[in-house]
Amino acid sequence: MTLAPAPPYGRRQRTLRRRPIIAMAVAAVALLSVQSAAAAPPAAPGTAGAAVAAAPPTLNQLAAAKGRYFASATDNPELSDTAYTATLGSEFGQITPGNSMKWDTTEPTRGQFSFARGDAVVSFAQAHGEGVRGHTLVWHSQLPGWVSALPASEVRSAMESHIAGEAGHYKGQVKAWDVVNEPFNDDGTYRTSPFYNAMGKSYVTYALQAARAADPGAKLYINDYNTDGMGAKSDAMYNLVRDLKAAGVPIDGVGFQAHLATQYGFPSQMQQNLQRFADLGVDVALTELDVRMVLPADATKLATQSTYYRQVTEACLAVSRCVGITIWDYTDKYSWVPGTFSGQGSACLWDENLQPKPVLDAVRTALGYTGTADTQAPTVPTGLAVTGTTSSSVSLSWAASTDDVGVSGYDIFRGGTQVGSSTAAAFTDSGLTPSTAYAYTVRAKDAAGNVSARTAEVTGTTAGGSTGGGSLKVQYKNNDSAPGDNQIKPGIQLVNTGSSAVGLASVKVRYWFSGESGASAYSSWCDWAVIGCGSVNQSVGTSGSGTTGADHYLEVGFSGGSLAAGASTGEMQLRFNKTDWSNFSETDDYSRGTNTAFADAPKIAVYVGSTLVWGTAP
Ligand code: XIL
Repeated sequence: MTLAPAPPYGRRQRTLRRRPIIAMAVAAVALLSVQSAAAAPPAAPGTAGAAVAAAPPTLNQLAAAKGRYFASATDNPELSDTAYTATLGSEFGQITPGNSMKWDTTEPTRGQFSFARGDAVVSFAQAHGEGVRGHTLVWHSQLPGWVSALPASEVRSAMESHIAGEAGHYKGQVKAWDVVNEPFNDDGTYRTSPFYNAMGKSYVTYALQAARAADPGAKLYINDYNTDGMGAKSDAMYNLVRDLKAAGVPIDGVGFQAHLATQYGFPSQMQQNLQRFADLGVDVALTELDVRMVLPADATKLATQSTYYRQVTEACLAVSRCVGITIWDYTDKYSWVPGTFSGQGSACLWDENLQPKPVLDAVRTALGYTGTADTQAPTVPTGLAVTGTTSSSVSLSWAASTDDVGVSGYDIFRGGTQVGSSTAAAFTDSGLTPSTAYAYTVRAKDAAGNVSARTAEVTGTTAGGSTGGGSLKVQYKNNDSAPGDNQIKPGIQLVNTGSSAVGLASVKVRYWFSGESGASAYSSWCDWAVIGCGSVNQSVGTSGSGTTGADHYLEVGFSGGSLAAGASTGEMQLRFNKTDWSNFSETDDYSRGTNTAFADAPKIAVYVGSTLVWGTAP
């Protein structure tokens, strides 16, 4: 067998349109994240929910219920692998020999036919009640050297006798023939080959006529790749088929190889493309479907692959003359991809160990299967931890679970009640009461409805205060360049970092300092404030804290109003002194900082009523 250099199967088409795929993905995520808190009664901690196991019908049974076949390619060396043939012989309604009916195998020397390998595939199919797609009679690749060496004048007769010999041998045993394979270049021009060079495009007509004569019962196809979507190449195929039909040439169907790759996007308007061919009065078939990816596989690529397989299946089901789908072998163990596309693989529905892959479920579902073979629950989330609290919320995070098919999300429980779902490994429970302890557990789930056991409980305690959904903090800057003089000048602003407005009437801000010796009476001023000093009041009080630098405090209050979510009061320039104007020694003052630009001030406190909502009091 000669191996031609690999053509760029599935190469990206210029007309590719990816937006709809992205939109669907976003919609799917949105659906997951709006699940109602009340939707699912919680399983008891430590138990996995039950899932119904049922053996799904075969792919071919599912397809047959829709009036289609589902088929696989195969090859002779694989037929001695009994684990492999168990599935090959049961799951599919038809098989295609991947190599053994190609010219270099069947007529390696002019006039000497060798059908042993092809016959072995046919025998296997017949023994398992499966049909055969003949592949392929006239192709530029895997063509023996003697054909290429013929003088042009002899190519037509060589081609016609090859077809007569091979299609004649398999007469009545193949349902369909890929009579001509890959006649076009990607730009829609005819590919040069010994056949095109000798006969021009008429070789297609001659080949089809010879095949019809040899096996009148077989459906006759032209087959190509990168014709799966709309584009120059499929336009060329369309024009050819239209002209053949108009000229009365025997043509029954068009094969679309569908060698796809996650990195090249999904073919543009596949369904519409299939439909326009069907509208010419021919059958259409997906003949060599696989969806490869650049290795290593990851969740994103696998999800894209599932989407592509599903979309191909849906496109075929949407076109009444789409007769079936053939995958280009069912297992990664025997896929042609790794040997042809360096660094790529994972293209098939079963893995290298002949185990079903999650993408298989996507195909089954696309074929209308509503049950599920997925009975395995995700792993229990680990590392559940409280990552933050406010007076009204507790934030949680955990390590992602794993699942044989895929984790679809997490359910979050507060006590015995589910309070939400999340597709991410994090959640914030809001609307809580200040200064209250809440216990949380989390479980993982998959799309089939399997759920993990719940995690061990973690407890989060909300902060004090009663700012509703608001959350106040103080920022400070030092407006006083002389720490040893007789005045102290803090610049203060109050910021609402929460999600709703906070009324200011009962809010107080305290700045602690030491009065040192001298008078115990104070005067205090607001020199300037963005919100207007008329809205601000201030006074000095005595603190019983006993902490150094904190025997007094400046307390700032507000005449009313509210601070919107995300808003700041802006700067309030405050100033105070002892009534005897004796000096301070500010450097040890509890709340003082040296920063001259605003920064969060955890040693300046905010109270709502008597509840501390920001900062640490001395
Ligand atoms: C591939 C076979 O799967 C390989 O084993 C072989 O080495 C090369 O050919 N388009 C076709 C198929 O029409 O015949 C090709 O099969 C894959 C691309």
